[in-house]
Amino acid sequence: MTAVGIDAVEIWTGKLALDLAETFAPRKGDDPEKYTKGLGLYESSFPDAYEDIVTMGANAAYRLMERKDLDPEDVGRIDVATESAFDNSKPVSTYIAGCLEEVYDDDFHHANKGERKFACIAGTQSLDDACNWIRAGRNRGRGALVIASDTALYARGDAGEATQGAGAVAMWVTEDPSLVELSTEQGYGSADETDFLKPNQQFPSVDGKRSIQVYLARMREALVDFESVAGKVGPEDYAYAPFHTPYPGMVRKAALLAYRHTIRGTEVEDALADEIGRQPRRADFADEEAFDAAIRDYMDDLKEQPAYHEWYDTHIEPTLAVSERVGNWYTGSVHLARMAALYHAAEADRDLAGEKLLVGSYGSGAQAEIHAETVQDGWREELDALSIFDRIAERYDLSFEEYEQVHDRHNHEKQSELEPFTTPEDEFVFDGWGPMNERKYRYVE
Ligand code: HMG
Repeated sequence: MTAVGIDAVEIWTGKLALDLAETFAPRKGDDPEKYTKGLGLYESSFPDAYEDIVTMGANAAYRLMERKDLDPEDVGRIDVATESAFDNSKPVSTYIAGCLEEVYDDDFHHANKGERKFACIAGTQSLDDACNWIRAGRNRGRGALVIASDTALYARGDAGEATQGAGAVAMWVTEDPSLVELSTEQGYGSADETDFLKPNQQFPSVDGKRSIQVYLARMREALVDFESVAGKVGPEDYAYAPFHTPYPGMVRKAALLAYRHTIRGTEVEDALADEIGRQPRRADFADEEAFDAAIRDYMDDLKEQPAYHEWYDTHIEPTLAVSERVGNWYTGSVHLARMAALYHAAEADRDLAGEKLLVGSYGSGAQAEIHAETVQDGWREELDALSIFDRIAERYDLSFEEYEQVHDRHNHEKQSELEPFTTPEDEFVFDGWGPMNERKYRYVE
């Protein structure tokens, strides 16, 4: 079967940054380490006054098309994943195509366009749709633009406020990709949950603590389901495991569970047994309560083991390097984690071609999906063409008052006027509203 997957990626961060330890924590009366150590977050990205999900998505897509020397006729689909849409009918992908048509002579009239919604997992679902369209032989030699774009805002004062973020990831999906091939094996964990939702409202209603438990439960189900088709997953089978990262602390919790699961019945469990005993097995306990208590004790001990730290530092920590600087990008988050892992390998000059990634996506409401990706020969060239950390470093550093103004600017109920903090250059910008309340955009040289 022909390899299908991601050929290239571009990332666009919102151009403003809020420093959580220096600027946010003091105004909230919090210890800065709650953010840097507890949540594992240093900064959040925000869109400037002239940015939104369309401009960020279009700018990432335009850069990607230019870098890969693509024309509109090469694009058979434009799939946008977002949970920050401002229209219940007209998809964001049409706005993005409209932007791109301003700068290309040709149009995207023959590209299928859509919008995917399932909280943060929609980015991966769009990727999956694009791959399936190619595998079904319906692409006529063309590729798909998959764009995950979000402005993840919470109501001010909500516990989630510290995890905000904004940006877009554009992925070019093709046959014989240069970056990663996606496995056809997938595992799902999906259940009707009400831990995080936006019932016709911009800011989410969140039960934060429960959302953590739902994330862990669905991820676990997805891993078991994945193993039922792909075989048992061992702790060293994958070079990196990029997970959906609402904040790095969430991934820390998931990683410990994943490690416990993957070492069960292996030599690693045996080797650790002298120190912390073997993992509790349900059959050895009279009731669920006693079993749960034994599991908690085992996890507390496991967390302290050097073998676990070494595994975490090698396979998980590198995936968090972008998220900790930009916050939660919702649909784009797991795709940032993948790129952070590849950056890490490139920096270490590691030969990653042929190695595998275990990718864990998640969306509240709730669903987790796990699949494998095989790194392709052209990965290094693709990585060398990206400059995400430079862009992160270039963001304008907001004061707390400026942050509040930016939050109000992007609050759909306020949309207050705001002088931009940065100057747009060679990019699409928001340009006001048209007569049907449509949003308008233009390209700025
Ligand atoms: P909170 O109440 O502000 O924070 O809410 P906390 O008091 O629980 O502290 C957070 C962590 O920092 C804790 O660590 C503290 O111990 C630690 P933990 O016990 O969890 O390991 N801490 C400190 N550490 C060092 N020094 C200190 C210190 N103080 C505290 N001084 C919460 C945190 C995540 C609940 C909140 O931010 C929230 O509601 N976030 C939004 C929901 C969310 O992100 N959920 C994650 C899973 S759901 C998901 O991923 C889906 C999502 O992306 C949406 C979608 O799919 O569309 C959100």
